[in-house]
Amino acid sequence: MDIYEIIRKRRTIRRFKQKEIPIELLEKFVDMARLAPSGANMQPLEYIIVNDKNLVDEIFPLTGWAGYLGKDGPPPQGKRPVAYIVILINKDIKSPTPKHDSGASVENILLSATYEGIGSCWIGSINRDKLREILEIPENYEIDTIIALGYPDEESIIEEFDGSIKYWKDEKGIMHVPKRKLKDILHFNKF
Ligand SMILES: Cc1cc2nc3c(=O)[nH]c(=O)nc-3n(C[C@H](O)[C@H](O)[C@H](O)COP(=O)(O)O)c2cc1C
Repeated sequence: MDIYEIIRKRRTIRRFKQKEIPIELLEKFVDMARLAPSGANMQPLEYIIVNDKNLVDEIFPLTGWAGYLGKDGPPPQGKRPVAYIVILINKDIKSPTPKHDSGASVENILLSATYEGIGSCWIGSINRDKLREILEIPENYEIDTIIALGYPDEESIIEEFDGSIKYWKDEKGIMHVPKRKLKDILHFNKF
């Protein structure tokens, strides 16, 4: 796959096979995250890979999934993530752009995962207090977001935006994700 194919192929995946991801791959994803651009090159981000089965199970109830799908949003038992990468902001490093840095580094992880055939869901809906407790994260680190990972057990495809941005699932369980059209978002030279 070339870079354009990887970008097009990457979709949020919320159903996973219960197959372990090699730790070398998880480490590689963080290695790619580390190389992302960083405002003033301050590099305030740190990462926790969680692949211990008990911890993975403990994290799941702290996460929110696919709000638009109601009770069908979260993956049922047997389809849940097998690993997480937690994105932390070290508050002692005075970065002017921690959230932008996080966006850039997370995308590196998501695209690397897609390249390796691994599905991912970027999760902002987290019970951060409980997560901090479970993973023993010090107070001088902000919990930014987490990435749920696993080999995909669902299909998700892009649709042209047609009045609603809400993703939806068809009767075969395929997720459809509307994206705004290029011509509606692109301006040349002047607005
Ligand atoms: C910052 C951020 C936070 C997100 N948080 C969640 C979340 O808490 N739960 C979830 O199921 N999806 C979450 N998503 C995934 C989005 O719902 C998903 O990217 C969007 O529906 C578009 O689908 P796509 O990633 O397949 O293009 C998040 C995405 C971003 C960028």
